[in-house]
Amino acid sequence: MPCASPRKWLPLQAAPTKAIVAIAAAWLRSVLLSVMPHSRNWTLSDIPWGQFQAARVDADVLKVVKAAAMVERNGADYGRYLCNVFADDPTFCDLARTWATEEEQHGIALGRCAELADPNYKFDSAFQQFRDLYQIPVDATASVRGSRTGELCARCVVETGTSSFYSALRDGVDEPVLKAVCAKIAADEFRHYKLFLNAMQRYSTQEPLSVAARLRIALGRMNEADDDELASAYFAGNALPGPYDRNASAAAYSARAFGFYRQRHTKRAGHMIAQAVGLSPDGVFGQLMQKVMWLVIGFMGRRFRTAA
Ligand SMILES: [Fe+2]
Ligand SMILES: [Fe+2]
Repeated sequence: MPCASPRKWLPLQAAPTKAIVAIAAAWLRSVLLSVMPHSRNWTLSDIPWGQFQAARVDADVLKVVKAAAMVERNGADYGRYLCNVFADDPTFCDLARTWATEEEQHGIALGRCAELADPNYKFDSAFQQFRDLYQIPVDATASVRGSRTGELCARCVVETGTSSFYSALRDGVDEPVLKAVCAKIAADEFRHYKLFLNAMQRYSTQEPLSVAARLRIALGRMNEADDDELASAYFAGNALPGPYDRNASAAAYSARAFGFYRQRHTKRAGHMIAQAVGLSPDGVFGQLMQKVMWLVIGFMGRRFRTAA
């Protein structure tokens, strides 16, 4: 029997539909927040700073830590950029803001380690010098990777790089407080990778991206590791005499940073990259990626050590 009064019937149907959508949205939000808790899982007050032993920090470790502190503390800019690119996704923006706060905390913790190891070091002024040299385009409203799936793929690559780097640094340093800080950061970076991987898998249903396109983005992002960001962070973080020379600074950073890697670190990184580009981490490509990464990092380390 046709409805006698459709104008009265429609709002009655719309109300429960709206309620269901609201409940579903709240549920999705709680699931996503459970992947990355809103509150930080550790704070600066959890670190036993009084136990820091400056004499146990190697000079090369200190140089790398000073550079890494710059890039990490710049996390707020990346958070703003991501919220612009994902402006219509408030759930993801919440996660991106929490992520950015955690990245900033990494920078502050590393900066404090550097100040304890080198009493003449002024982290805030070094960071300001870095900001004067390098800033990302925070006003962009579309991803520089061409799509949001591509953006998330690139973020997976970055978090793969940072999680393997801090794992390598954790295993390579002798100072116990710095080692504990690196361990906490490495765990955060791995969790960040999973956050972006989950979001990428969600977005890839709306904005599909082929394996070949993801691979291009991943390789392109890995190649950017020697761009201005790390070079200027090394230059400003270590107060090198000017003028700024990108190639020399990048070589000096890479010569030291690559030396911490062992095969187990690149093996895990290869596994993560394969997963991010949509291939089986244990398949032929995943195995190949692990081997290639180990060979490339070994080769680059030797090349930059010679150049530096
Ligand atoms: Fe970080
Ligand atoms: Fe991270």
